[in-house]
Amino acid sequence: MQTRALVRLGANACIIGRDAEKTEAAAKDIATVRPGAKVIGIGGCDVRRVENLKAAADRCAKELGGIDFVIAGAAGNFIVSMEAMSSNAFRTVMEIDVLGTFNTIKATMPHLLQSPDARINYVSATFHYTGMPMQGHVAAAKASVDSLMASVALEYGPRGVTSNVISPGAIADTEGAARLISTDEAALKHHSRSIPSGRLGTVKDIADATVYLFSPAGSYINGHVLVVDGGAWRRQGGS
Ligand code: HXC
Repeated sequence: MQTRALVRLGANACIIGRDAEKTEAAAKDIATVRPGAKVIGIGGCDVRRVENLKAAADRCAKELGGIDFVIAGAAGNFIVSMEAMSSNAFRTVMEIDVLGTFNTIKATMPHLLQSPDARINYVSATFHYTGMPMQGHVAAAKASVDSLMASVALEYGPRGVTSNVISPGAIADTEGAARLISTDEAALKHHSRSIPSGRLGTVKDIADATVYLFSPAGSYINGHVLVVDGGAWRRQGGS
């Protein structure tokens, strides 16, 4: 949805994924939002392998003429208690979220530094503000993503690259909400009432925040965590 919104507004884009068929189909679908849009789908790309990302970034820059905006959004997630989680399960999520984010920065930074107006947006979460049962691995990983974002803001702000996090809350009609809350209408309604804004988020809420950060209106925002959750995180932990 983030990429779709940016393409609708005039951007060309490259998306990556592990599954070639799904990634290429998604790219084709996104390209339909604007006549003339160029959207490349690169499959077989695992964010844990920096060489995959470097090849993808180089191809993207070559075919689209450069890279101005990067969304680092790869995330592993499953619901599991600490005692049931294997060390490999913990490592897998840390590697997808943290190493994957580092690899994304590493692969795209040479191209971003050529851009007159470069922006990076990381997709994080709010679990680590309070801790979250059954999400210990994800909370640890997202804390690291926020930290990487801040270091990039300080290190590359002077060289013209802004670096910000968007932290979504529960988003309606997504696998995440279904897994972490419920698919049951009544349960979702009940959960909505606990959110200060009175509703679940939408994918459009996240796309709108991304457009804002990537627009001229967001040019002086650097090193910021933008929580897009209707105020929910302020009640996390039971207050
Ligand atoms: C316990 C699990 C598990 C599960 C995998 N593992 N799934 N452990 N419960 N449900 C363990 C495996 O047993 C294995 O450990 C280790 O994790 C690696 O699994 P693999 O299948 O070999 O890894 P891989 O194929 O590389 O990746 C698996 C994956 C990934 C990490 C589970 O497929 C994944 O996360 N898919 C979901 C992605 C997703 O939904 N992303 C959106 C996130 S959105 P052992 O010890 O057995 O070898 C989000 C925001 C939610 O997070 C916000 C909602 C409010």
